[in-house]
Amino acid sequence: MHFELSEEHQLIRKAAKEFAKSLWEGVVERDEQAKFPDEQVRQMGELGFMGMMVEEKYHGAGMDTLAYVLAIEEISKVDASAGVIMSAHNSLVLYGLQAFGSDAQQEKYLKPLASGEKLGAFALSEPEAGSDATSQHTTAIDHGDYYLLNGTKNWITNGGHADVYLVIAQTDSEKGHRGINALIVEKGADGFTIGPKENKLGIRSSDTHSLLFTDVRVPKENRIGDEGFGFKFAMKTLDGGRIGIAAQALGIAAGAYELSLAYSKERKTFGKAICEHQAIQFKLADMEAEIEAARLLTYKAAWLKDQGKPYAKEAAIAKLYASEVAMKTAIEAVQIHGGYGYVKEYHVERFMRDAKITQIYEGTSEIQRLVIARDILK
Ligand code: CAA
Ligand code: FAD
Repeated sequence: MHFELSEEHQLIRKAAKEFAKSLWEGVVERDEQAKFPDEQVRQMGELGFMGMMVEEKYHGAGMDTLAYVLAIEEISKVDASAGVIMSAHNSLVLYGLQAFGSDAQQEKYLKPLASGEKLGAFALSEPEAGSDATSQHTTAIDHGDYYLLNGTKNWITNGGHADVYLVIAQTDSEKGHRGINALIVEKGADGFTIGPKENKLGIRSSDTHSLLFTDVRVPKENRIGDEGFGFKFAMKTLDGGRIGIAAQALGIAAGAYELSLAYSKERKTFGKAICEHQAIQFKLADMEAEIEAARLLTYKAAWLKDQGKPYAKEAAIAKLYASEVAMKTAIEAVQIHGGYGYVKEYHVERFMRDAKITQIYEGTSEIQRLVIARDILK
């Protein structure tokens, strides 16, 4: 067993840390104004962060999942919105296109997405199908050489800025989840409109939209995998996606902790730094211990994926635990900062708002427990 990062992984972490420093500038304004970080995402593309696990022959950076996790962690320590933009693009869009896309799909879509030239979004959730993802109402009716797509998708990350959308829809309702397909839809397709941006509690500079499809013709060659593979495609995609969200949660927790540790050494009450009060020390000790546990779980899930071993349960465990640690740590970070924690300049209130979503998206904490329980009981 090795608990040390390789030299290559250390370098990747260093590069991500260096880039993440630039995210501090304007992070409060982007959050307040719900402004998408266009320039920062462009730079992430240039640095290879928008195609991290894609092979170089498809214009990706050819790195492994652990490298990807390290990068998301560092980026989310400063700006969790940038973290989720990167995670949805890499784990939910590029992974599936590389693993299951046809040669033509890889040529046409994967290459410009992996180079960072284009942005991707993944559309599974609907107004009435979130946790209960098999209950798809969006339909993709087979018309010979194309599908006719109708319906609404909800809460889609990168929804307004994406160029390419992977849309999950029901073709044959009699077959249940085995009658679902995953289709590639381009922005600008006739009948495809993007709903208004959601006004969110946290990760405010990532953009979240509903998507509306009215008689959108999707050519058959845009279906990923065999007829009826769409639900399994979504589940397999989410197994890896949950590692990305675990890394985002880990970054939020670690970012809130680092700010709290530094603040606790500066702020004085009753004639000494607050870190000299045992009540504050115990909070810091719990943060350190829980973050380290979340980190080990997240890196282990990434490692299993890189080894080609089963990782669905471990990804769910990492996502469940890291998101709970992110929420708890961020709340305690505000507490350590006292009144200053409640105002925007000190950042920890943003970390607290951002942490909450990690317990909800890519499967709520309850759904992670369901996935874990089914695995251990099967
Ligand atoms: N890999 C491959 N196949 C899988 C799978 C996996 N991990 N999990 C399930 N399946 C297969 C099952 O084997 C089954 O197929 P067969 O009948 O052929 O064997 C099929 O999928 C249906 O599975 P279940 O019977 O278990 O379905 P269910 O309805 O009982 O529950 C669920 C499934 C796990 C709860 C699933 O609906 C789920 O994960 N829900 C949460 C949805 C979610 O995470 N959404 C995230 C949206 S993306 C997002 O949020 C992005 C973002 O924020 C940035
Ligand atoms: P519901 O499924 O209605 O759940 C409501 C509550 O009931 C939750 O507490 C849930 O845990 C609980 N619950 C439900 N079923 C069970 C059960 N069987 N046992 C126990 N408890 C249960 N989706 C995408 O497809 N693509 C995206 O890019 C995307 N990005 C998102 C970004 C944001 C900011 C948000 C808010 C959501 C995003 N989502 C995305 C959707 C997200 O995945 C769903 O919101 C999530 O899966 C929960 O679904 P729901 O909101 O319908 O809640």
